[in-house]
Amino acid sequence: MTTASATPTIKQDRILILDFGSQYSQLIARRVRDSGVFCEMFPYDIDTQRITDFGAKGIILSGGPESVHEDNSPRINEAVFELGVPVLGICYGMQAMAERFGGKVHGSDIHEFGAATIDVTGNCALLDGIEDSPSKLNVWMSHGDKVIEAPSDFDIVASTPSCPIAIMANDDKQYYGIQFHPEVTHTLQGQALLGRFVHQICGCAGDWTPDNIAEMRIAQLKEEIGDKQVLLGLSGGVDSSVVAALLHKAIGDQLTCVFVDNGLLRLHEGDQVMQVFAENMGVKVVRVDAEERFLTALAGESDPEKKRKIIGKTFIDVFADSARDVSANTDGQEIEYLAQGTIYPDVIESAKSHQGKAHVIKSHHNVGGLPDDLSFKLIEPLRDLFKDEVRKLGITLGLPAKMIYRHPFPGPGLGVRILGEVKKEYADVLRLADAIFMQELERSGWYDKTAQAFAVFQPIKSVGVVGDGRRYAWVIALRAVETVDFMTARFAHLPYDLIETVSNRIMNEIKDVSRVTYDVSSKPPATIEWE
Ligand code: XMP
Repeated sequence: MTTASATPTIKQDRILILDFGSQYSQLIARRVRDSGVFCEMFPYDIDTQRITDFGAKGIILSGGPESVHEDNSPRINEAVFELGVPVLGICYGMQAMAERFGGKVHGSDIHEFGAATIDVTGNCALLDGIEDSPSKLNVWMSHGDKVIEAPSDFDIVASTPSCPIAIMANDDKQYYGIQFHPEVTHTLQGQALLGRFVHQICGCAGDWTPDNIAEMRIAQLKEEIGDKQVLLGLSGGVDSSVVAALLHKAIGDQLTCVFVDNGLLRLHEGDQVMQVFAENMGVKVVRVDAEERFLTALAGESDPEKKRKIIGKTFIDVFADSARDVSANTDGQEIEYLAQGTIYPDVIESAKSHQGKAHVIKSHHNVGGLPDDLSFKLIEPLRDLFKDEVRKLGITLGLPAKMIYRHPFPGPGLGVRILGEVKKEYADVLRLADAIFMQELERSGWYDKTAQAFAVFQPIKSVGVVGDGRRYAWVIALRAVETVDFMTARFAHLPYDLIETVSNRIMNEIKDVSRVTYDVSSKPPATIEWE
């Protein structure tokens, strides 16, 4: 970690992104942050005051699905141009900017989508020194409308045969419009271009780094919490683990974590969490063994949604009980704060939904609302970070890479991987099968090549033969997927040899399994989990 105090300064050089609804908008923010510059994304129609107060050194206008020719399609708030800072319009953002300054936009239902090579025919400060080959850029296009006449004080800097104005620039005002998407990796110079905009054009330093973020956040937490006590529900997942590590560095023993073992965890999961946090890092962790409580609550229920609700509610009850116990046992000091691992995409999604421009919000949440009578103040130290920033922060804070880069595990755990009614006997079989699968994935190097993998318990029996005997036992399905966003997924094309090894080991080592299958469904139409 750096020694110089980084406290408020690393957010001083900041970029504002106004979101016009493109599916890539979040990526813009991630790329800007990757350049070491803090940024935030607001819906395009956020209050003028918030735009002005933000203190941006530059503004990026995202793409969007609409056309400037439609009635009531989004327009750029005039405040953007009154701030006197550089502006970069991407795709729809460019078209809206062109229209605002007197250019012409051609409306079209024909979509140009995919890779394109653009010819750089002029110069501008944004492009200085950026090219793939002399005067060429390989970019990613996704648009219907296009600018066909630049505003009179803009220069045309690049074009393609189908898109006459691929880049337009006004170097005096530092306004730039680009018809392609620099935020997607298919645009080879995209990161360089955004980097050039935020550093050279807007003049932002590159202080937004994991070391500086850690230092700033720890200082803020120290100041905010003072000598008060904080409680954190630790699941062993990335977000709550990073919150634990941050808080531990900031306030040491004033942090108490509660780890609820619900009997639906993977093999040795609870021990691993205790080992990393309690033994290696010296974090105060209370482990609550609630297996029986969960299994009793789930007994007789086979409907997936009801099972999820029961698990969620039981979690809250158990957590609330242990919070009260912890509160009563902190040397007379009440717990004042509850920490949570909310991350920035959750904040953006909920802001979008409040503005009525939502895409689908994830319906799964690890922890539902806690009861009001707990009356803690909330602390959310990851609220302004993307997942990849959270991961880098975790590494900076010394968490094991294995913990940081592991596959997501759903809140209801094995509860949604045991089809139908959940029983301890089933969970025990599934845990063993799942552990064998994980071991072989890691051994073969396939764990890191898949986004999520697990075993599923089928409560049906199938006939097998072992030696001279008949075996009538359970069926295990293996599931492995490749995905980036978990909204769509392709089943992982694991090598047959690997599937064979896993299958043999499961049937040889677990006498209660007579058959193993591999799930070849993609999402959609299937989902990743079976329930
Ligand atoms: P599906 O099954 O909807 O899963 O394709 C997408 C991602 O969400 C995870 N998932 C959950 N996470 N509570 C969670 O915290 C849940 O109830 C839940 N259900 C699914 C799933 O593991 C995958 O990563």
